[in-house]
Amino acid sequence: MHQRQARPSPRNGHSNVQANGQPTPASQAAQAALKRTPKDFIFGKVIGEGSFSVVYLAKDIHTNKEYAIKVCDKRHIIREKKTEYIKREKEVLNRLGSNQSPAAPFFVKLFCTFQDTDRLYFVLSFAKRGELLPYINKVGSFDIECTRFYAAEILVALGHVHSLGVIHRDLKPENILLDENMHILITDFGSAKMFNESEKESDEEENSMRQRRNSFVGTAQYVSPELLTDKSASHSSDLWALGCIIYQMVAGLPPFWARSEYLIFQKILKLEYEFPDGFSPSARDLVEKLLVLDPKQRLGANDPPGEGYPSIRAHPFFQGIDFRKLSETNPPPIY
Ligand code: ADE
Repeated sequence: MHQRQARPSPRNGHSNVQANGQPTPASQAAQAALKRTPKDFIFGKVIGEGSFSVVYLAKDIHTNKEYAIKVCDKRHIIREKKTEYIKREKEVLNRLGSNQSPAAPFFVKLFCTFQDTDRLYFVLSFAKRGELLPYINKVGSFDIECTRFYAAEILVALGHVHSLGVIHRDLKPENILLDENMHILITDFGSAKMFNESEKESDEEENSMRQRRNSFVGTAQYVSPELLTDKSASHSSDLWALGCIIYQMVAGLPPFWARSEYLIFQKILKLEYEFPDGFSPSARDLVEKLLVLDPKQRLGANDPPGEGYPSIRAHPFFQGIDFRKLSETNPPPIY
């Protein structure tokens, strides 16, 4: 339905294509300044599906660059009363994208948005290697070097996202994508919570009060106990999810696992999980310090805001990791 032919259209009467078939730098710059439309892209295969969106692999006809374009059906969003989610996702992605820092490579970027009568379009970074989850499932579990590397990238990304006043609230291996070089790109900020500049440094208590009226967001296996008991989420809720993901990379399955969501919630509230034999002792110690029922007692929860969780970085599990050089480092192979 969305398959379209490339139709490079010189809009100024001059050729915008060089002898080698590539667009001229001038035409590229001119195109960048124009508002995009669906006709600026060739839509390819479906690479993701959400409850009210479909993600297509798409190619910019002017630059040949690949993007992931999230297409949302307006009527469906209105019918399902999800307009707030969509607005929030756009605001969060804009906030993250407006700040260039060394951690910026570790989440998907929003390049532009546009709409037609029926649909909204989000042009996002394309994560060529897909989700982290199938990699964990394929090999059964990651070795310690791999786990350390990916845990470190997630931690740096979280530090950055939190420093901008954003809580992800649905961190899980399906929302951690991999670029062509196997570095992470965190995605799906549709459940994220933003707080304002003035709120950023405000008391945790106040934030949780503000968020108490929120309905359940997240995925059962990774949801924090505070979200289940008093519907409050803070940056520490993402640290809980990090603990679950580190456990899953080492053990192959998430720590809280049962036949139904209800039973999973019961286990989370009782902190009922076990470490399989052979679980790395330093990974175990870190997971035990993150999977703590009281969000204020989790490792990193009381670190100074905006510093990227120095107390978690200093944990012996991360010994030997240079956090500033992660994006230039070749990720260890997964097998
Ligand atoms: N699936 C959903 N979003 C994606 C993205 N940005 N890149 C690749 N696959 C995706």
